[in-house]
Amino acid sequence: QVFKLEDYRPNDYLIPQTDLTFRLSPDATRVTAVLTIERRDGVSVSAPLVLDGDGLTLKRIEIDGKKVKPADLLATPDQLTILEPPVARRFQLLIETEVAPAGNEALMGLYRSSHVYCTQCEAEGFRRITYFLDRPDILSVYTVRMEAMRDEAPLLLSNGNPLEKGDLGDGWHYAVWHDPFPKPSYLFALVAGNLGRLADSFVTLSGRTVELGIYVEPGKETLAGYAMDALKRSMKWDEEAFGREYDLDVFNIVAVSDFNMGAMENKGLNIFNDKYVLADRETATDADFANIEAIIAHEYFHNWTGNRITCRDWFQLCLKEGLTVFRDHEFSADQRSRAVKRIAEVRTLRAHQFPEDQGPLAHPVRPRRYREINNFYTATVYEKGSEVVRMIRTILGADVFRAGMDLYFERHDGDAATIEDFIKVFEDASGRDLSQFALWYHQAGTPNLTISSTHNPAAQEFTLEIEQSVPPTPSESRKRLMHIPLAFGLIGAGGKPVPYSSVEGASVEDGVIHIRKRRHMVRFSGVTERPAVSLNRGFSAPVTLSVEQKADDQFFLARHDGDAFSRWQAFNTLLTDALISAFREILGGKQPAFAPRLIELAGSIAGDETLEPAYRALALALPGEADIARDIGRNIDPDAIYAAREALALAIGTANRDVFSGLYLSLADREAFSPDAASAGRRALRNTLLDYLSLQPGGAELAAGHFQSATNMTDRAAALAVLAHRHHGSPEAVEALAAFETTYGSDPLIMDKWFQIQASVPGPQTVDTVKALTNHPAFSMGNPNRVRSLIGTFSSANQTGFHRADGEGYWFFAQTVLEVEKRNPQVAARLATALRSWRSLEPLRQAKAREALLSIAGAENLSADLRDIVERTLA
Ligand code: ARG
Ligand code: ZN
Repeated sequence: QVFKLEDYRPNDYLIPQTDLTFRLSPDATRVTAVLTIERRDGVSVSAPLVLDGDGLTLKRIEIDGKKVKPADLLATPDQLTILEPPVARRFQLLIETEVAPAGNEALMGLYRSSHVYCTQCEAEGFRRITYFLDRPDILSVYTVRMEAMRDEAPLLLSNGNPLEKGDLGDGWHYAVWHDPFPKPSYLFALVAGNLGRLADSFVTLSGRTVELGIYVEPGKETLAGYAMDALKRSMKWDEEAFGREYDLDVFNIVAVSDFNMGAMENKGLNIFNDKYVLADRETATDADFANIEAIIAHEYFHNWTGNRITCRDWFQLCLKEGLTVFRDHEFSADQRSRAVKRIAEVRTLRAHQFPEDQGPLAHPVRPRRYREINNFYTATVYEKGSEVVRMIRTILGADVFRAGMDLYFERHDGDAATIEDFIKVFEDASGRDLSQFALWYHQAGTPNLTISSTHNPAAQEFTLEIEQSVPPTPSESRKRLMHIPLAFGLIGAGGKPVPYSSVEGASVEDGVIHIRKRRHMVRFSGVTERPAVSLNRGFSAPVTLSVEQKADDQFFLARHDGDAFSRWQAFNTLLTDALISAFREILGGKQPAFAPRLIELAGSIAGDETLEPAYRALALALPGEADIARDIGRNIDPDAIYAAREALALAIGTANRDVFSGLYLSLADREAFSPDAASAGRRALRNTLLDYLSLQPGGAELAAGHFQSATNMTDRAAALAVLAHRHHGSPEAVEALAAFETTYGSDPLIMDKWFQIQASVPGPQTVDTVKALTNHPAFSMGNPNRVRSLIGTFSSANQTGFHRADGEGYWFFAQTVLEVEKRNPQVAARLATALRSWRSLEPLRQAKAREALLSIAGAENLSADLRDIVERTLA
């Protein structure tokens, strides 16, 4: 079944009130729903009431206290139809269903994770609990009563505020929660189990005290300290940056160990994948700390962008996700280093969203069609969706953007809104027409800008010739011209901006060229010296650039661009160009050679004390193999890309060995551990240098020493990765892997790092390692984190292993995807996207990848989730 945006219409019925009672038991939980149903104005009395279900068993049904006759209804596991609802406009419908949380391995609806009852309802999991109008425009006030055996589930949590609790005798007890804010069913949640609590409180801007709780496996409370700190900082930041205050008396977060995604913003009761809550220096890397901070903030920010204002339908998913990602990005930028954060965001966007947008799974930020909504929680909806919001701010300026956001909250609080509503508030706040800009939501594909420049010294004119194009994407062959805000700078000697007196050919405001036509000749007058032009500063638009630029200018910008992002960009482009040339040389049977000035520049960036260490670490991290493949675009041979990258790493490390060694020693930790951004930056730089130095004589010993003397997980995991990847099979590598396993074997979350490191060892032998590791006692095909660490890492972060020339990587992958799918279709579908770029491979690998995809497509009883991904990938 295909769902279409244009088919939206409001339902005939509303559910203003929902009262739920759960009698919890692992294999047979009774759910009694008492729904206040209201016929919408103008709807005919004879309109049937059709509720969604998914695999449900109906046990009892009553309307206004009377049994419904079987002839008056149609009940299947997936739908409940009341053929002739009462004539009265309002009536009460009681529905009793029975569900089995312990057997729920799809982790949607009500399930058990390590003996804790929990729920995941977004997008369509509520219908696995009871029959309902399970769509986001049905807003209801929920009261939830939970009954459970006290020793099995001493803790009973749901949305909103606690109302009452008590004993029921026979070892049973109950609790009632009430959420005064009308909400869609996807935000419903309950948690019941035996959990430890970290408690704190927050006083809001207007002086209300909110009780905060983070619930974790008993004994792990102290590991939630960083998450709690991040939560309080998020609450404060949203008051300051967006004027948004929290609205309930309590805010709870629960960490569970089996979770399909990162986390979920259920009203007042966020549920998290425990990997995004639990952290201390011993267990978590700096990247983990940064992710925890960002995801805690993200889910908290949803309280306004998602919950108070929700989505009319699932086509509007980016209304809450793109906007909330933008908000969490800004939060992290304010808490950490803005430039470093921006570079990291752009790297992620390019690594995940660009290939999606350039392949068979491309779709607009606001899709018009879907078969399975779970497959649209994508980098395009989230990451590109955030970039679109950022462009609105770039175009309007920070103050008008804030005025538009204020208007959005004022006008739409309590609504299930659309992208059109969102764009309208900015048009109203600014008086501008954003209709051409809105194409960013409606049109898929990464726009490209072709740019060349000329300077005419006699006329003192500098001209940029800019042409836009948007490549065709599935089902959109013809594209309309977009409004692209391109930030730029004209840079002269010493890095100073080159002044100009006037400009014609495009509107240029505050350092941004507004590209709206296919072609612009942007002419700057009064330009006395030839500038180097810095383009797409701060990554003002998510586009690719084809720039005719002298290498001298690139080198100049890599040293002097005053915009830190663009300076990183210039150096990164130089590295990418060098890697692509090396790739071609290797394919042609030659030894690659690199320009000495590039190698020297790497050394001088490393030692430049005016630059933050975190920034230097990002600059020195060579473009990933997948990034290089994406930029080459076609006829990919991953082995040649790998060889090119290794050659450049060796060349940079060899020429700069003394600088790198000195710096490496000077960066050794002297102070007590702190996860703050500056300390993390020093560790990042030191570990990047270790990676280079490990290719030099004595490299294995150096990395082994780094591993043994590590006092935190960042350094330990970095050294282990260097040993496993650069010195595969060496005694040092074998010993370190064994030591890690001995120390952390009983902690699955930490063992994920061990699985990841081994799954990403380059080379043809890794497929066998991964096969063997699926039998490791710490591994489980039923746990999404384990599957992602081992199988996900292998298929999406190991170019030479996964794309082994004989196709064995693909075959193993196809079988494993089908095995995972039997339990958890959503996780399997996500895994399967690893083959989305199969058409850019060289012909032999392409044929083998296609066979593997066909073998998945041909399997029996394929889930809607997996079928959708595989069929679109093959189309
Ligand atoms: N709304 C959640 C978040 O981004 C993601 C939930 C996605 N769940 C799913 N089953 N697709 O914060
Ligand atoms: Zn979200």
